Amino acid sequence: MHKIEITLTPDELNRIPAKDQTIVMIDTLRASTTIVTALANGARGVIPFSTRSELEEYYRADPRPDYLLCGERGGRALAGFDLGNSPLSYQPRVVKNRIILLKTTNGTRILEQLPLTNMILIGAMVNSLAVTKRIIDLDRDVFLVCAGTQGAFSLEDFITAGRYSSLLQQEGWQGDDLVIAATRIFKDNQSFDDLINLFLHSRNGQNLLNLGYSEDIKFAGSLDLFSVVPYLKGDKIIL
Ligand code: MLT
Repeated sequence: MHKIEITLTPDELNRIPAKDQTIVMIDTLRASTTIVTALANGARGVIPFSTRSELEEYYRADPRPDYLLCGERGGRALAGFDLGNSPLSYQPRVVKNRIILLKTTNGTRILEQLPLTNMILIGAMVNSLAVTKRIIDLDRDVFLVCAGTQGAFSLEDFITAGRYSSLLQQEGWQGDDLVIAATRIFKDNQSFDDLINLFLHSRNGQNLLNLGYSEDIKFAGSLDLFSVVPYLKGDKIIL
């Protein structure tokens, strides 16, 4: 039977073995929710960047017309870019057949710290069932990697890890007390209203609320709107 592990902050990533693992990157508010939405709505790929300057340099080297420049800082859309990081703005008419160049504060940054020799999936609440099925099919131990917020623990990522853990435990997968805690907090708050209430009380939730993104929080807390399983292939996230 396979094992579930959760990492709470980027400092713990050195626990992940270099091979034979499945890794799920979770940044519920909002990078992983946005990546899932963009691909489900027809984008051909998402290329993640840690900094705005890296993204701009990449674009300048090859300014293809199908690129969309996207990203945020502190939750606010980057000035001069096509889109920010609100999943609701990644509508099919905007993203279909486009390649998204995306810079976010935590989610896209953590991706470059993961051991690429493993299978890396992008997980959110909005695609949790589909990703869980893929984890089971891959038949390896799984690390649920919470992106956190500037190095610190994030409540909404932990609750999302609890959703994945609860689905995997139904299939007999096992984890330590951290996995049990995440599962418990998810199960005790799994109604839409309770989940959104917890998200709203998180640090990221408060920030997004203050910036006027309350609809993003509701969207990010909606279970299984999509059945896509994005994964990292080379420098690009695709389906
Ligand atoms: C991040 O990567 O830190 C987040 O997705 C920030 C945000 O909410 O836009």
